[in-house]
Amino acid sequence: MNYKEALQHPIFNIISKSAKELQLDAFVIGGFVRDFLLKRGDAKDIDVVAIGNGIKLAKQVAQNLPNKPKVQVFKTYGTAMLRFEDIEIEFVGARKESYSENSRNPSVEHGTLEDDQNRRDFTINALALNLNPAHFGDLLDPFNGIKDLENKTIRTPLNPDITYSDDPLRMMRAIRFAAQLNFKIEDASLKSISKNCERIKIITEERIVTELNKILESQQPSIGFLLLEKTGLLKYILPELIALKGIDEVEGQRHKDNFYHTLEVVDNIAQNTDNLWLRWAALLHDIGKAPTKKFSKKVGWTFHGHEFEGSKMVYRLFKRLKMPLNDKMKFVQKMVLMSSRPIVLAQDIVTDSAVRRLVFDASDYVDDLMTLCEADITTKNPKKFTKYHNNFKIVREKIIEVEERDHVRNFQPPISGEEIMSVFNLKPSREIGIIKEAIKEAILEGEIPNEYEAAYKLMLEKGKKLGLNSAVDS
Ligand code: CTP
Repeated sequence: MNYKEALQHPIFNIISKSAKELQLDAFVIGGFVRDFLLKRGDAKDIDVVAIGNGIKLAKQVAQNLPNKPKVQVFKTYGTAMLRFEDIEIEFVGARKESYSENSRNPSVEHGTLEDDQNRRDFTINALALNLNPAHFGDLLDPFNGIKDLENKTIRTPLNPDITYSDDPLRMMRAIRFAAQLNFKIEDASLKSISKNCERIKIITEERIVTELNKILESQQPSIGFLLLEKTGLLKYILPELIALKGIDEVEGQRHKDNFYHTLEVVDNIAQNTDNLWLRWAALLHDIGKAPTKKFSKKVGWTFHGHEFEGSKMVYRLFKRLKMPLNDKMKFVQKMVLMSSRPIVLAQDIVTDSAVRRLVFDASDYVDDLMTLCEADITTKNPKKFTKYHNNFKIVREKIIEVEERDHVRNFQPPISGEEIMSVFNLKPSREIGIIKEAIKEAILEGEIPNEYEAAYKLMLEKGKKLGLNSAVDS
């Protein structure tokens, strides 16, 4: 089969010409070919395998490009990378073994194209297109990768135990591709992952998180998380989620399975946002429920304070997985901490002051919080489902209304502490805080508008009650 049409970009002719000049064969391999055949849009990463020295080929290509880009060489891996326009091209020489067992000998034996295809992770990632001018665009598919693409199957070229022990990260890659492409993992592969799951411990957190992010970014992330759970990988990566599994029953009272509930929430939110961190918040919004779970005869199952506990766990989890401890983490914490707030509104009558408080506390994140809470509605009772969604619609309308009128998002007190000090001739003291708090409360409760005049008047009244003398009185 020939797929010349995949190689229309001028870069392929340049690689082809460069390979000919060096008298070696070169092939495009991996994700680029896979994604072309799946019509997944233009790939920005191209992997080229040379039957010979990949670094030399990269340098030759750079010479033949008009802007002569810099070649980045990774000696230990025998690879080289260059950028052309917005495309990143990685070059590697075909090798016999994926990872040298003899660490004193980093130069792994050169191999044929088939040797190289053998040591790749999946048959759908081992498809190669010939760049040799005489066979330009010919497909080389020794493991029936095309068939696996058609049957939507993830399969390893070699015995899966070998492929996964070469690089245990591939266990997660298998699951990530299953989620991204909505493919099935072949049975033998699944069994092998289950058998070898503990080996994931040798993989760095950063690489694990890259795969987790890709699962979360897929259309239906639950596909990935269910597979992570089923194969035993999840307990090594996110034990907090495993702790949510199961339903306890005491005296005939049961609580819902918070693991499966969480996955439903993640799938729901994936339909409404591409914000990766909001998706993380959905994944972690209930993790505090495991450590706070209690049963009492009076009220049944409770999870008091799970939002606070959960937000503390977010920090520990991010730290353990070497994720950024920056504003993204704080955002996830805030979402988890506030995740139950709008639900209460959805169940009761929506008052202005409750909405004002919500906007005040969530400030710029109030829309994200609403998106999270809407995704959190997983009730199977159609009456409740409609009621909650309708109430949230009202909440969203009220948020806009209240915001236009009261401007409590990113609240700035209309009267500053300095002004209070100067009016009452005070040094920094407790009274200033009391007056500021009273003004804020009155605004949030809707007793006064968020305006200077009204706040000034209230300040004078409060000051009087506190026995303060104001410059205005005298
Ligand atoms: N590969 C592999 N084992 C790995 C990682 C990569 O065999 N652990 C091979 C696969 O052939 C893969 C290619 O290297 O197709 C390029 O890897 P990478 O760029 O990480 O993945 P892609 O398949 O291109 O997919 P994506 O861009 O979606 O990550």
